[in-house]
Amino acid sequence: MKAGYSDVLIGLQFGDEGKAKVIDIIGKNYDIIARFNGGSNAGHTIATSQGKIALHQIPAGIFYPKTLLYIGSGCVINFEKLVTEIESVDNFGIKLGGRLFISSQASVIQPHHLLIDEIIGKAIGTTKNGIGPAYADKALRSTEKGIVNIRFGDLADNEEFFLKQIKKNLKDTVAEYNLKNIDVPLAMENFKKAYIKIKPYIQKDSLFLTRLVESGKKVLFEGAQSFMLDVTKGAVPYVTSSNTAAGAAYVGGDLSPHFHRKTIGVGKAIMSRVGNGPFVSEFGGEKSEAYCIEGGGNKYGKEAEQKLSVEELLQSDDLFEIGRALRMLGDEYGASTGRPRRVGMLDLVQLRYAVRSNGVDLLWLNKCDLLSDFSRTKLKGIPFVSQYIEEEKSIDYVPSSNVRQRRIKREIEYEKNFPEKIRKLRNFKDLPKNLLHLLARVESDTGCELLGIGVGSKRDEYILKK
Ligand code: GDP
Ligand code: IMO
Ligand code: MG
Repeated sequence: MKAGYSDVLIGLQFGDEGKAKVIDIIGKNYDIIARFNGGSNAGHTIATSQGKIALHQIPAGIFYPKTLLYIGSGCVINFEKLVTEIESVDNFGIKLGGRLFISSQASVIQPHHLLIDEIIGKAIGTTKNGIGPAYADKALRSTEKGIVNIRFGDLADNEEFFLKQIKKNLKDTVAEYNLKNIDVPLAMENFKKAYIKIKPYIQKDSLFLTRLVESGKKVLFEGAQSFMLDVTKGAVPYVTSSNTAAGAAYVGGDLSPHFHRKTIGVGKAIMSRVGNGPFVSEFGGEKSEAYCIEGGGNKYGKEAEQKLSVEELLQSDDLFEIGRALRMLGDEYGASTGRPRRVGMLDLVQLRYAVRSNGVDLLWLNKCDLLSDFSRTKLKGIPFVSQYIEEEKSIDYVPSSNVRQRRIKREIEYEKNFPEKIRKLRNFKDLPKNLLHLLARVESDTGCELLGIGVGSKRDEYILKK
């Protein structure tokens, strides 16, 4: 029997590029969709005619009943959130029994990880899902207080011992940070209840994916968090705590690179970033950064901003105000917190760097529909970053240090505007010629062919190039 293969899909920018939307579109070509990194910090949305569904830990192949869903050893698992998520998928009439498998080698997000993230995550602006503390404990393995990295399989093999250890880890944290009002027995009861519900999904066979692919099956790896948030490659410390680069699929995804076929990279035509850290192409630069971070306290959350006039903001001479309008038009607010996402123009230096770093074979560009909104501004066209100048020299990569990123001078070019609405278009050749020109520029600058583009938020609002 001829072996199958695996493809890897990752986000190329700062997250939320619409990875789930693309997985949902191309997922029908695969037998298994598999996650290899991150946890419930991911928010992967599919906008259906029955409403939106946001997936956090479950791979985005849910709408194909024969497709298996696998959560690999590189992920960190929050049992309680996973129970809620399984219920929300169930509300869409989708049953996951016999379809969802979780590696026994995946690490457990323990209750104390959430408490620690709540305290220490502020400086980075984390999602407070306990991701950093869980991966930190994974690297630590054990301390003088006992085992701190507890994997799903360890817990299943020796429940009594590991539940005791999880409780001890929680109590130690409560004592260490002098936390008040933490009901340890209740937290443990909730944890245990959720664990028991998730236990049937455990996959103890470390060669599970290997066997499937050897027997001809095709896997699509679904990246979370995106390349610029990679714990090694990104602007540390303003990153997540896992490796998000395409190569990480072949560690955390439990398959060897022997089966790799191609890498698909997803970007969006108007970028966004949540949380702190450098963002070269941000509309309004530091003003926007400060505003959006303060918005974390919901002072300028979605509700407050929606009262403003988009038309007035678009007509402003200040890129910060244009950015606010684009945030409203693109609905760029945190799915759970409502915090305003920072928005920026398409950055071709960054995109080319991400393509080259990950060996991206095919590119997907979402949110192309929003580009027509620039025709409502006083700008001379659709702005995009075409060069990075650092100390008077052009550089072709994104430096991973904060200091260097912040001193980059961006060079902006403009593509001619197009006022047409493109949401209803389904053929590449019908697109406005100015957009086609911009897309050709994206391909030539990145050296990567487009697979397709997004022209709206709904599942069917996309165009394949071929
Ligand atoms: P992910 O984390 O990369 O899967 O992306 P998210 O789901 O967090 O965020 C992407 C958001 O953009 C979702 O609300 C999508 O419905 C929406 N979206 C995706 N593609 C497009 C597009 O082409 N146009 C518009 N207007 N919205 C899009
Ligand atoms: P998806 O998969 C966008 C950001 C957080 C914060 C930093 C660290 O939906 O694209 P963490 O909770 O991981 O310790 O937070 O990373 N972040 C994301 N931003 N999309 C995501 O996931 C993200 N996951 C984490 O906002 O700045
Ligand atoms: Mg997201």
